[in-house]
Amino acid sequence: MSFILREICHEDLPLINSWRNDPEIIALLGNNFLYISSDVDAAWFEQYLQNRDKAKRFAIVDETCDRMIGTTQLTGIHAINQSAEFSIAIGDKRYWNKGAGQVAARMILDHGFKDLNLQRIWLTVLVRNDRAIHLYEKIGFRHEGVLRNSVYKQGLFEDQVMMSVLRQEYLKQVPAVAAQSQAPAYVLLNESV
Ligand SMILES: CC(C)(COP(=O)(O)OP(=O)(O)OC[C@H]1O[C@@H](n2cnc3c(N)ncnc32)[C@H](O)[C@@H]1OP(=O)(O)O)[C@@H](O)C(=O)NCCC(=O)NCCS
Repeated sequence: MSFILREICHEDLPLINSWRNDPEIIALLGNNFLYISSDVDAAWFEQYLQNRDKAKRFAIVDETCDRMIGTTQLTGIHAINQSAEFSIAIGDKRYWNKGAGQVAARMILDHGFKDLNLQRIWLTVLVRNDRAIHLYEKIGFRHEGVLRNSVYKQGLFEDQVMMSVLRQEYLKQVPAVAAQSQAPAYVLLNESV
């Protein structure tokens, strides 16, 4: 199985909308749960097309069957600070824990640092999202602190961890990762869902 990134397009909106309305997925994100209609998503996509210098939004695609399985994005791109916020969600639950998150995260970090000339990529993640935190630590994000009671979900205020990775830290670790796998860091072979 191998995964690629491509920019999201209008045809992706129904699937993205189904994920954005899925309580099980939203429960793991830093977002509040809101019902989102297809009209709202269409307007959101138009807004994105007008502001492509401020955000890069990608579909994560299983190349073997050309299926979109999730999305990942860099948002709030700041030209002077050379920084952006990273986020990711594998919406197709059949693909959880199959390595897609790690591959996609490395690909978008590569893009951010090597193509977009970013120097800092940061994220927030719910303190209880152990799988996501494990993944982020593995690909080089460092903990910066805890944002206490920073998001209201399912009747509770929850803490989030703030993490970041700087370009020089990320680029230093890339050769080691490539050597470990003896394959491009963004391709997974011989695995099936
Ligand atoms: C979080 C997410 C992006 C991870 O992607 P994924 O493709 O499922 O994860 P991967 O298979 O690439 O890697 C998961 C890693 O976490 C580990 N893991 C799984 N469950 C875990 C847990 N409960 N605690 C700690 N680590 C865990 C796996 O063993 C694997 O680590 P390894 O490669 O060292 O063995 C994906 O599961 C997802 O989108 N989940 C729903 C939404 C979400 O949580 N998004 C992130 C919001 S910040």
